[in-house]
Amino acid sequence: MAIRVDQTAKTFTLDTIKSTYQMKVDAHGNLLHTYYGARAQGTDFSYLISPADHGFCGQPAGCGDDRTYSMDYLPLEYPAHGNGDYRIKALRAGAAGQAPALDLRYHSSDVTAGKYALPGLPAMFAGEGDQDVQTLRIVLKDLYEEIYVTLLYGVFEKKNIVTRTAVIENKGSRPVCIRRAMSMGLDFPENDKELIHFYGKHAGERQFERTALLHGITEVSSTRGMSGHQHNPFVVLCDKSATEENGDCWGISLLYSGGFRIQTETDQLDQLRIVCGIDDEELEWTLSGGESFATPEAALCFTDRGLADLSNTIGAAFRTNLIRSVWKDRRRPLLVNNWEATYFDFTKEKLLEIARQAAEIGLDMFVLDDGWFGKRDSDRSGLGDWYVNEEKLGCTLRELVDDIRDMGLSFGIWIEPEMVSEDSDLYRAHPDWALTIPGRDPVRGRSQLVLDLSRAEVIEYLKDAIDRLMHSADIAYIKWDMNRSVENIYSAAAPSLSQGAVKHRYVLGLYELLEHLTSRYPDVLLEGCSGGGGRFDAGMLYYAPQIWCSDNTDAVERLRIHYGTSFGYPMSSVAAHVSVCPNEQNGRRTPFQTRGVCAMQGSFGYELDLSALSEEELEEAKHQIACYKEHYELFQKGRYYRLSSPFTNRSFTAWSYVSEDGSEASVSIVFTDLYGNPKPLRVKLKGLKEDAVYRLDGKEYTGGALMYAGIVLPVPECDYDSYFALLKQCGALSK
Ligand code: GLA
Repeated sequence: MAIRVDQTAKTFTLDTIKSTYQMKVDAHGNLLHTYYGARAQGTDFSYLISPADHGFCGQPAGCGDDRTYSMDYLPLEYPAHGNGDYRIKALRAGAAGQAPALDLRYHSSDVTAGKYALPGLPAMFAGEGDQDVQTLRIVLKDLYEEIYVTLLYGVFEKKNIVTRTAVIENKGSRPVCIRRAMSMGLDFPENDKELIHFYGKHAGERQFERTALLHGITEVSSTRGMSGHQHNPFVVLCDKSATEENGDCWGISLLYSGGFRIQTETDQLDQLRIVCGIDDEELEWTLSGGESFATPEAALCFTDRGLADLSNTIGAAFRTNLIRSVWKDRRRPLLVNNWEATYFDFTKEKLLEIARQAAEIGLDMFVLDDGWFGKRDSDRSGLGDWYVNEEKLGCTLRELVDDIRDMGLSFGIWIEPEMVSEDSDLYRAHPDWALTIPGRDPVRGRSQLVLDLSRAEVIEYLKDAIDRLMHSADIAYIKWDMNRSVENIYSAAAPSLSQGAVKHRYVLGLYELLEHLTSRYPDVLLEGCSGGGGRFDAGMLYYAPQIWCSDNTDAVERLRIHYGTSFGYPMSSVAAHVSVCPNEQNGRRTPFQTRGVCAMQGSFGYELDLSALSEEELEEAKHQIACYKEHYELFQKGRYYRLSSPFTNRSFTAWSYVSEDGSEASVSIVFTDLYGNPKPLRVKLKGLKEDAVYRLDGKEYTGGALMYAGIVLPVPECDYDSYFALLKQCGALSK
């Protein structure tokens, strides 16, 4: 069984195929965290704890004389503020009007089959065949108040994932105020680890950084009301020596699309703690008697087999047990999007011209981006007025869509429901629906304001707008955008004492809208977007199987963005398009072939004026589209291997896909520098079958040779040249 409860030793042990996770209730009723690492069954890991008096470490209630017992250094499962632990905490709450303090002791527990659900929040789920999934609930209670904390664990034994959530409940009559409520905390006995995290900016998301953890606190976070371009709510802790192939790695992903906080602390005894949860900078959430608060879910994965195994385990589990869309299994349409082709400046004829060309080269869908609604000829007006601008289009939306469908293409459309322009009918009618602080000039981003999604009437307006749009034409795809950070969080509808809850309520409102869209229109392919990849997080994947990865479409900068994104997300969720040359964001010139090779790393499409392509480029595009379609399963579901890092290898970036049974693979290389008198470059493949014989470029190699000796790369012939090849198993070594 995945979950073992030992009533005598008072241990709770969660086993997956590669990991063991253990907690123990000690003699004082405190819930200790004793182990999370490689699978090691049959042990009470509390032997690792060595009690001692470390000085200036306070004793909690009931342990006054035992100076070797302190929450300040014990490994704790869910550390709360106010009982002598001075490290970073998971929970800061208490009776309203008092200094926050909790002393949580074990109350009860139970184990059930299947996975718990989290109404209103994204959560991983057990699929139809997942009989191995179990839930553990451990209830803790404050010593003094009727405040209960239920820790929930979902154990996906075969998928090697453990999920965590905490639910805080006020069963008393006095209000309780929550100021911090993390989804999880983990304590490790040693800081012998490094942190990998993914920083960035607009048009440069998820850059890889690996760093040692100093004494004190290290933090990656977002206070922007969205997960953000600048940091990502996915991190890895790993051995200092961990590589792609070897070493202990812990992946932590927060299933949340709002602001977040991930902190590590190396304490006075060189122990390491990590906590992860929602942004608590302004949090003040009041629970009246009988109310509860659920934190978003965190998904954890441990492997002792290196970073490639970690990424593939998380990617596979997210694909099957987090993404709900029918499009995770259906063949997604290959599309052309008109944004970089026309921006706001288009006519019906221009759109049809692009669509016609798209149909001719084998694409499946035309996506109409920003600029089709209200008064929207620039990004300074119109948001909120979700009715088609027939004057601009010269027809109704249905007429346009029908013309496009007649060409054999399906139709998709862009919306940005969370926003409002001051120059819009919506704002003129409901200025108080925008988040602004009374009496202050609001902070504007991209000249727009953020709608107050904590308000029911705003949610109803947007549900209605979505329904009207969906019924106005045959729409098969929605690109859901969000183009500014949230700021000035004041809800005109909330009582003054509840303003500290608005930021999280905004995200709950967003999830309600996404749930409405995805449950009412389950066949619609939803693509997440936020100025490119500003909201690329596991929470969004629960609703959208793919996310526009970056507004930067330059193939070479995308190498770094895709590399970073691949650590924590399935590559099928990475929307990537071939765009124009020179590139619109940085002016770089890259060959058409290279742009295709790079975009085929993710969910593939085009974003340029197809009608302006040369004959040669159109031929190449046809070839790319046919190739992606032929090897669709490999690209979408194959195991993904980073063969080199764009952050350390100056000469090239290489990656590959390997089919589940290892009989097929692709290898892609983009050369990032040129040399006179070039030396031969080699790359070692990964994830193949050692004893299988593969055919590559007309020659035969064993899997062992390809992985341990590698292949010799062709010499690049121009700037940013690329190489793409397919490998097929054609035999096996005789034993
Ligand atoms: C954002 C998106 C782009 C495009 C524009 C439209 O920046 O990331 O792809 O849709 O908005 O305004």
